[in-house]
Amino acid sequence: MSEVEVYPVPGEWAKRARVDAAGYEKMYGLSLADPGSFWLEQAKRLDWIKRPEIAGDWSFQEDDFHIQWFADGKLNVAANCIDRHLKTRGDQTAIIWEPDDPAEDPRRFTYKQLHAEVCRFANVLKANGARKGDRVTIYMPMIPEAAFAVLACARIGAIHSVVFGGFSPDALAGRIEDCDSTMVVTADEGRRGGKPVALKANVDEAAKRAPSLRTVIVVKATGADVAMTEGRDIWYHEAAKSVPADCPPEPMGAEDPLFILYTSGSTGKPKGVLHTSGGYLLWAGLTHELCFDYRPGDIWWCAADIGWVTGHSYILYGPLANGATTLMFEGVPTWPTPSRIWEVVDRHQVHTVFTAPTALRALMKEGDEWVAKTSRGSLKLLGTVGEPINPEAWRWYHEVVGEGRCPIIDTWWQTETGGAMIAPMPGATALKPGSATRPMPGVEPQLVDPGGRVLDGATEGNLVIARSWPGQMRTVWGDHARFFQTYFSAYPGKYFTGDGCRRDEDGYYWITGRVDDVINVSGHRMGTAEVESALVLHPQVAEAAVVGMPHDVKGQGIYAYVTLNAGEESSDDLRTELRNWVRKEIGPIATPDALQFAPGLPKTRSGKIMRRILRKIAEGDVSSLGDTSTLADPTVVDDLVANRVS
Ligand code: WTA
Repeated sequence: MSEVEVYPVPGEWAKRARVDAAGYEKMYGLSLADPGSFWLEQAKRLDWIKRPEIAGDWSFQEDDFHIQWFADGKLNVAANCIDRHLKTRGDQTAIIWEPDDPAEDPRRFTYKQLHAEVCRFANVLKANGARKGDRVTIYMPMIPEAAFAVLACARIGAIHSVVFGGFSPDALAGRIEDCDSTMVVTADEGRRGGKPVALKANVDEAAKRAPSLRTVIVVKATGADVAMTEGRDIWYHEAAKSVPADCPPEPMGAEDPLFILYTSGSTGKPKGVLHTSGGYLLWAGLTHELCFDYRPGDIWWCAADIGWVTGHSYILYGPLANGATTLMFEGVPTWPTPSRIWEVVDRHQVHTVFTAPTALRALMKEGDEWVAKTSRGSLKLLGTVGEPINPEAWRWYHEVVGEGRCPIIDTWWQTETGGAMIAPMPGATALKPGSATRPMPGVEPQLVDPGGRVLDGATEGNLVIARSWPGQMRTVWGDHARFFQTYFSAYPGKYFTGDGCRRDEDGYYWITGRVDDVINVSGHRMGTAEVESALVLHPQVAEAAVVGMPHDVKGQGIYAYVTLNAGEESSDDLRTELRNWVRKEIGPIATPDALQFAPGLPKTRSGKIMRRILRKIAEGDVSSLGDTSTLADPTVVDDLVANRVS
């Protein structure tokens, strides 16, 4: 193995940060040795209506499977994110909104204004029938009203299900139906990189396939002309005129659901990951504080979309629970120019940027001059999330963007984990480019071999978490058996992450990527099975197999093998049509990067597709296909290799 460079904690950070190296060891040790007291002490960071007296109560064993945290506590998440700050920092900016078009003015909301906006939104939801426990689907652009809608749900105890604005009407309909959501909050249109996104029209399309949907609340964002369906569609600005200004927060049990967020897995349809109130908020707030050492006055910017878990935990819940000033960005990193991110940093004097490696790789390709022409003098810390960061991108972020003075906080976690699990703390952790470093308090990672044997020391294996933590998901919406099956059956008594990982001599963790049939495209999770199901819906397609392939900017790209029905002719036009088909069925992020027509797929005699071989061919690594003699028809491999698309 080549020498890995180590970046020690900068002196300034060692002095400033709440947690230094010794502090980390102490805190981590205590969290494992006496979790009960540790977590009850941590619970004090929230404002409880009834303070909990029990911390974790859980078992990952099949016969006694349950996960609860602070179950006897009562609180309201929105009150924790807004009301409790009103006395101390009511006039401080809570949300800065940076529009897609830099020629437009940003908008700012103080905590007091946020309170008023969220109360009003909550009353509109209530006036239209939303109650505690109801599912409200939020399909919104990155505008302040998206934040108001999310927090309004939390305020009244409705369960929000945010669906990324880039998903297709079909994907949206599936998510509305899966959780029997009767209400959708949307906008006339969104905008990204100067282009409109027809959100309301997509909702209209989805509604045809989602009979549970009864009410659509429409926020006027761009002023585009949209069709309104009498009796179903309501303009938010009109409804808001006639509701009371105040809305008392609903007292919620710590284990009452806060939100559902759909995410892709190895098999089947996307799963509705369910997070509850107390443990999730504690985890989002605590990790935001520990990983980024957030201090009042710092301008915090998580450049994700609220359609993903990163947006939930680190644009909204974590920072707002900590009374932060959080920036919400409507646009994209490369528009109007590749300087945009750094211009936004200068415009708002941003202290910390938190983004995905894919964005960094895209910007890196455009050349350093786009960075160099901006000041970035306000930056103190740089974060990444979503996929492994290659050391080259890490160094570029550190040297070119941060000019060597900002620690890089590479956070490994998942939709399922609620917040960061393995990540550095800037005052405590020496950094190694490409490693998410060490676990957060309470997180007990283990590496196991395929047989479940725990591997010690410097080694590589499948990453499991050996005990529960407060931010852990509680179930798959509507399918508790699938929750157990997906995460707890492979290695009994442990949570299986689906990731492979290496641990080095210093106990640092290096995530190597998914070991299941999930691919990570530009930091977005995509199930290969989802793309395959979309392809086989096409009338000319008989069969499809989808695998990941290496991609310079996206990390992984989507490589699809398609077998047409007998008598159908392959052509470049059909290839384009099929790529567009997937785009329409799921959304632009699922568009195959490469599509190969394959007269046959490599199958075992029992009919199982040998994906290992398909992966190798997609990677271009055809010299080591391994043993193909067990295939029903070994000659299909020669054809696949000969017609590989590059
Ligand atoms: C991957 C995003 C390496 C991993 C928060 C995980 C990472 C999946 C990192 C979850 C990282 C996320 N280093 N890999 N820092 N962060 N991943 O649910 O494969 O969209 O299982 O959550 O992304 O993706 P999800």
